Amino acid sequence: ERADALPRDLAGRRIVVSAGGTREPLDPVRFLGNRSSGKQGYALARLAAQRGADVTLVAGSVSGLDDPAAVDVVRVQTAAQMQDAVAKHASGADAVIMSAAVADFRPFTFATSKIKKGEGEPDSIALTKNDDILAGLVRARAEGGLSAETVIVGFAAETGDEHGDVLTYAREKLARKGCDLLVVNAVGEGKAFEVDDNNGWLLSADGSETALAHGSKALMASRVLDALGPLLAERSR
Ligand code: CTP
Ligand code: CA
Repeated sequence: ERADALPRDLAGRRIVVSAGGTREPLDPVRFLGNRSSGKQGYALARLAAQRGADVTLVAGSVSGLDDPAAVDVVRVQTAAQMQDAVAKHASGADAVIMSAAVADFRPFTFATSKIKKGEGEPDSIALTKNDDILAGLVRARAEGGLSAETVIVGFAAETGDEHGDVLTYAREKLARKGCDLLVVNAVGEGKAFEVDDNNGWLLSADGSETALAHGSKALMASRVLDALGPLLAERSR
């Protein structure tokens, strides 16, 4: 879509978008990471800015993406850095969209010098949990650390398994996270990661569920922002 043909429905809104994967260092040259490309978050940030929002993009590791025009880009590496950047920019924001693939765990220790191969078998890598940034935002909003009007959007990539399908897991995640909207990508072999298309659901805390048919990440972004608009209007009137 041409930017000049887009609605300016987000004019005056401040939106924080996180995107990409985090990298959790083991030593000065190695990290644990994931395959998130950052494409979905970048598409959201770009489109939100085109629709008039004042956008801060908190970007972890992404592959081959140009900074979106007219977006303030804050670069981070680790989940802890992403948490700090999101918290800083969330205060005063109208909406926070957590599309980043935040590492659930990080190495328990960071070796300040390069780990050597040595002679014997390697040690296992001990891990510890990272804070849940999304859940932390919801908690802060409930406790008054973040404005009660802030709209909080989460993402989930689900495969489903023998215990439940994608939608079942997604509903549970929405309830557990307590965010206002959960954008669910149904993932399987070759889907969602590193490709341009997605399909899934948009689940709202009010119980409404919208299927998202196959479409580009740009189309996905426009559907998410279309759902965000009414929530923003509802909160801050
Ligand atoms: N998320 C976050 N902080 C984390 C982990 C996840 O903010 N430490 C956010 C993601 O950005 C996403 C949402 O939470 O918006 C859901 O992430 P997901 O990995 O699907 O959820 P988890 O609670 O980590 O559950 P799972 O066991 O399925 O990984
Ligand atoms: Ca996770």
